[in-house]
Amino acid sequence: MAPQPAPHVGPTQGHLIVERPRRLRRNAALRRLVAEYRLSGESLIQPLFVREDLTEPRPIASMPGQVQHCLASLPDAVARAAAAGVGGVMLFGIPAQRDAVGSAGQHPDGILNRAVRAALTAAAGRTVVMADLCLDEFTDHGHCGVLTDTGHVDNDATLHHYQRMAVSQADAGAEVLGLSGMMDGQVAAVRGALDAAGYDDVVLLAYAAKYASAWYGPFREAVQSALEGDRRTYQQDPANRREALRETALDLAEGADVVMVKPAMGYLDVLADVAALSDRPVWAYQVSGEYAAIEAAAANGWVDRDALIRETVLGIHRAGADAVLTYWATELAESL
Ligand code: PBG
Repeated sequence: MAPQPAPHVGPTQGHLIVERPRRLRRNAALRRLVAEYRLSGESLIQPLFVREDLTEPRPIASMPGQVQHCLASLPDAVARAAAAGVGGVMLFGIPAQRDAVGSAGQHPDGILNRAVRAALTAAAGRTVVMADLCLDEFTDHGHCGVLTDTGHVDNDATLHHYQRMAVSQADAGAEVLGLSGMMDGQVAAVRGALDAAGYDDVVLLAYAAKYASAWYGPFREAVQSALEGDRRTYQQDPANRREALRETALDLAEGADVVMVKPAMGYLDVLADVAALSDRPVWAYQVSGEYAAIEAAAANGWVDRDALIRETVLGIHRAGADAVLTYWATELAESL
């Protein structure tokens, strides 16, 4: 009889180690092969800011490496994203004139609609062009909706403005509209207006679970927000998890084509919940403050910037996001 090999005995006398997960981590090639998630440019979306009264790009101090584009500098940024294989660009407009109802957001020649047309030309079908559909960049009070006499954000009156803005963005050629205002009924209202105008093929991305977050701080500089106060009567309370499922279910029922969770890193539990619920694509937005915090720590030499960018975006995918809006989209796609 052939001699039996001695069982491998672990560090504790007589204790047999049967499972050895480290076996699959032995070297880089093996780790790469068994990776469950992979970063790729096509599942990244680049947010871009376009400011009407600029003639050259202007750096955003709180978001090192990001700029407010002028209309002339936008096409290169879109072309660069497209060349890197980025899945889409999300455009935000900063108008020269603001008023109480955000009129500049609906004007055919408003900055955001002009940006959409310029981006479409530059993209030439290689990357998807999306427009933010919200009033906050266009109102002189900075809220995402119009106000009542007593200063409250008027949900139902706001929907009419979203409908007109949506049709003007569809007229400009926007392929995806990002409904970021957190008004009740906004998805159904905009879907109805688009369909009535013959735009049944325009995709609606619903910011389904959008929290009233301090992580948006640098974005306020990026869009020169006029907001005083906060958005807590319409954006979600960070204390709530279950409520995100209610918001998501409503947006799905109203016809959202894609649902999104925002911010990302602090809301991975919510993202996992939403991903379990949704039968449609789920995206997440790694927002301005998440970008700024990592850039600031990296500038101090406190963290490994490139590793942390990859780790955080990977973590957002792992939690359930099919695609991620991140200010690093183009750079990350170029590095992959
Ligand atoms: C509102 C909007 C905001 C962001 C995207 N859309 C600001 C807010 O809700 O206060 C924030 C994005 C970011 O911080 O990167 N239209």
